Amino acid sequence: MAGLPYIVGNWKMNGTRAMLNEARAIDRSAQRFPKVQVGLAPPSTLIFRMRDAVELIGVGGQDCHAKENGAYTGDVSAPMLKDAGADFTIVGHSERREYHGESDADVNAKAQAALSAGLAVILCVGETEAQRDAGDAEGVVTAQLEGSCPIADGAPEKLSVAYEPVWAIGTGRVPSVADVAAMHKAIRAKLVAIYGDAGAEVRILYGGSVKADNAAELLAVPDVGGALVGGASLTAESFLAIVGAA
Ligand code: G3P
Repeated sequence: MAGLPYIVGNWKMNGTRAMLNEARAIDRSAQRFPKVQVGLAPPSTLIFRMRDAVELIGVGGQDCHAKENGAYTGDVSAPMLKDAGADFTIVGHSERREYHGESDADVNAKAQAALSAGLAVILCVGETEAQRDAGDAEGVVTAQLEGSCPIADGAPEKLSVAYEPVWAIGTGRVPSVADVAAMHKAIRAKLVAIYGDAGAEVRILYGGSVKADNAAELLAVPDVGGALVGGASLTAESFLAIVGAA
């Protein structure tokens, strides 16, 4: 697996200009951790300002529209994110899949659009609790990859996959190390099936209730190349504790 551990904060719908102080503090401290790649995905309203406020860390969007522009009220396109200073965007987060009805085909189109605009992509996949209880977790996740992985314009070199079990997001519950290892192994096999040898280099992040006290253990699991962090990325103190653990 290539590259440095990649720790990304997803601020979701949190953050006004005052929170740029947290980003500045994270950026200042990032130089203490040269062996970790750090990114923050603030709400799109803050991307432009965050880009100006930080030097070392990456800045990204949380979603993008699949089209470049047009009559899509409220949406933001990949070229717009790029223009605002984004380096990457998240696509396919389970909150987008659930609250906005996004299908694998939608996620695929967004990932393609992001790569075409020159953005790196963090593509999220993950099963619900009911799917895990039914023994379908790996089947669900590999089907999501099959349907949503982009196949041109910089894939897979600029692609990361984030495995986020839906039931672990914001709940304080985390799968066992063995379950994380099994799922990341299944994801790796699927990425190699899709991309050939290059699939072995795609970073696979874990997301879902990552905190300072469980980060080291999760990041030590084979094929876990980083973390996508929600709640614990909202303050510099809690986020930097995770960066430090990497
Ligand atoms: O994208 C990050 C995420 O969904 C995990 O959120 O709050 O459980 O760390 P959280």
